[in-house]
Amino acid sequence: MRETTYSSLQKWLHAVSMIIIVWLMMSGYYAALISQSPSLKEAIGAFNVSLGAVFTPVFFYRMYVSFGKGFSQVLRSKDAMQHMAFIAHSMIYLSTAVVLISGVLMMGRDISIFGIFSIPFLVTDVQFLSLFSVIHNVACMCLGLLLLLHVAAVIKHQLCGHAVLKRMFA
Ligand code: HEM
Ligand code: HEM
Repeated sequence: MRETTYSSLQKWLHAVSMIIIVWLMMSGYYAALISQSPSLKEAIGAFNVSLGAVFTPVFFYRMYVSFGKGFSQVLRSKDAMQHMAFIAHSMIYLSTAVVLISGVLMMGRDISIFGIFSIPFLVTDVQFLSLFSVIHNVACMCLGLLLLLHVAAVIKHQLCGHAVLKRMFA
């Protein structure tokens, strides 16, 4: 069986997206469902919109790097587990892409990038804005579930003596 390997670039991009996505997910749900403070909700919302918008091209670059390498490795492999992992990772990529695109398209106002400059909003129709908002919420839930499964799979492999953490983080 041919082992999956990750380049340093892939490891860095995984680590950066892991930190940013986990923050956006946890703080987004905290602001939406738990916090009672309007000023804290507003501060988290403004920061997350800037961070999410800056992160969008970084994540698409990551998809480009990983698919280029992943496809060629998987096409050459005859191992069913490697194909399953590739499908699971592709679903994480797909739902993250939907979260990012719907996030940008649900903005009914200019997207301020940390107060430094603004990206003009793209959609004006109120019905489309609420459609993208629903898509954003549903895709966030799918991504959250996939990430729980991802972390559970990593823990399971690690406990079975398969050093997956080492090959992604070391
Ligand atoms: C929360 C903590 C996380 C841990 C401990 C973790 C751990 C890992 C490990 C060990 C691998 C290598 C698996 C293998 O070689 O079979 C991996 C791969 C991967 N992880 Fe995570 N991960 C985390 C979060 C995330 C997040 C937030 C994303 C969202 C994009 C993500 C997306 C991926 C993808 C797509 C791969 C496949 C390799 C690639 O294309 O870069 N992970 N992860
Ligand atoms: C992977 C990246 C992202 C994640 C994980 C994420 C996560 C979340 C979560 C968990 C919520 C709360 C959902 C709820 O109300 O049930 C949310 C709301 C929101 N997100 Fe995202 N998001 C991401 C990217 C973006 C981007 C790129 C933008 C726009 C540039 C954006 C704009 C918003 C807005 C405007 C809200 C609604 C805030 C409010 O209702 O006040 N998000 N996001």
